[in-house]
Amino acid sequence: MDTIVISGGKKLRGTVPISGAKNAALAIIPAVVLSEGVCRIENIPNISDITLIAKILSEMGAIVKMVNKNTLEIDPRKIVSPVASYELMRHMRASYYLLGALLGKFSSAVVSLPGGCDFGVRPIDQHLKGFMALGAKYRVDGGMVHVDCDKLVGSNIYMDVVSVGATVNIMLAAVKAEGLTTIENAAKEPHIVDLANFLNCMGADVRGAGTDVIKIRGVKKLSGTTYSIIPDQIEAGTYMIAAAATGGDVTVTNVIPKHLESITAKLEEIGVQIEEYDDSIRAYCDGKLNKCNIKTMPHPGFPTDMQPQITALLSICEGTSIVNEAVWDNRFRYVSELRRMGAQISVDGKIAVVEGIENLVGAPVKATDLRAGAALVIAGLSANGLTTIEDIGHIERGYENIVGKLQGLGADIKKIVVEEQIPAVAAAL
Ligand code: EPZ
Repeated sequence: MDTIVISGGKKLRGTVPISGAKNAALAIIPAVVLSEGVCRIENIPNISDITLIAKILSEMGAIVKMVNKNTLEIDPRKIVSPVASYELMRHMRASYYLLGALLGKFSSAVVSLPGGCDFGVRPIDQHLKGFMALGAKYRVDGGMVHVDCDKLVGSNIYMDVVSVGATVNIMLAAVKAEGLTTIENAAKEPHIVDLANFLNCMGADVRGAGTDVIKIRGVKKLSGTTYSIIPDQIEAGTYMIAAAATGGDVTVTNVIPKHLESITAKLEEIGVQIEEYDDSIRAYCDGKLNKCNIKTMPHPGFPTDMQPQITALLSICEGTSIVNEAVWDNRFRYVSELRRMGAQISVDGKIAVVEGIENLVGAPVKATDLRAGAALVIAGLSANGLTTIEDIGHIERGYENIVGKLQGLGADIKKIVVEEQIPAVAAAL
């Protein structure tokens, strides 16, 4: 697997452009399936998760054209089957958005059960609850979820758990259902609002996205459109934390500051200086960084997708910080890797106690998932000495050109491409 090598201790300085939001793009691209025309999607992050979802759509018959590295034109009209490719889908959880999109288009869908990941079980009971409320039945057979109905009819759905994925999937299934669907206790993330805006650009009638009550009045037809994805607030927060961890001075550009409010507030509490502008934020340090307690919550709370990154920063802040991961069951697997760099962190279930130390020391570590990998990059940038990070495929799933962007900020970082070792016997054949 490819490796990142970082020689730490360099202050990051300069500006870094933020790419389109991964989790908005992963909801909007499957939504194109519902359209009866060509959709042009701009400001898409150039990351492997997007390549995969685009490949799944083209395998299903869509005509997918890469206009440039951040723009796709997709014609879904040749998709005639509600069955998505098992093999490809197993590699990415977000492909389960095809359940809602195919159900909304064909009143039927056959999609691979999403894989688990490194932070615990990832159920879909709320997704299925929503589909059944709209009149569908489901069964699981051979690792595939089959969802079918005669006709989708709008309904009132109360989410037992605030779920981004279930909110997205129910929106996709409901936009062409007969009548009114109300989703209560809906997720309010910026990417939910972005999806609603995209659906409305296609001719849907979705109101209330961004609040905990979303109302969707079914329409007969959705047309092709052109749409630009919002900036990625998690990518932006990651670079702001990297600036803080290296005592640097970084401005993230092409952001929507309001989407980063909870991240900015916590960084200021730690002692990071923040200057906000219309579409950029400057983060810099001019002194000690202090302990801070974190509890992850659904938006607008502190995002769970920033938890590993801020924990890496807290490991070199003065004092003892408590990190409460209230969204996922087991999102501290990366802590054992941070400990290899000298971090003093103890974990008990959903709580991590972080004893701040003067500095981390570079070491060979492994990325266990996307945000864990980002946390290890931040730790490596701040550490004394050399850090090598294996399994960086996880990181490249969600961060466009992370090595290039960090080099642009003065980091001593490079990517080592590890040639696949062909077993000797195969080579001899
Ligand atoms: C999305 O995952 C994101 N992924 C995750 O980001 C993010 O961590 C998560 O939302 C929370 O913000 C994408 O958008 C592609 P959930 P999702 O359904 O939709 C429970 C990243 O790093 N739950 O909001 O799978 C679940 O177990 C990724 O970019 C149920 O109980 O998350 C969890 O405890 C990692 N039943 C909580 O809800 C369900 O049917 C939130 O999960 C669904 C979820």
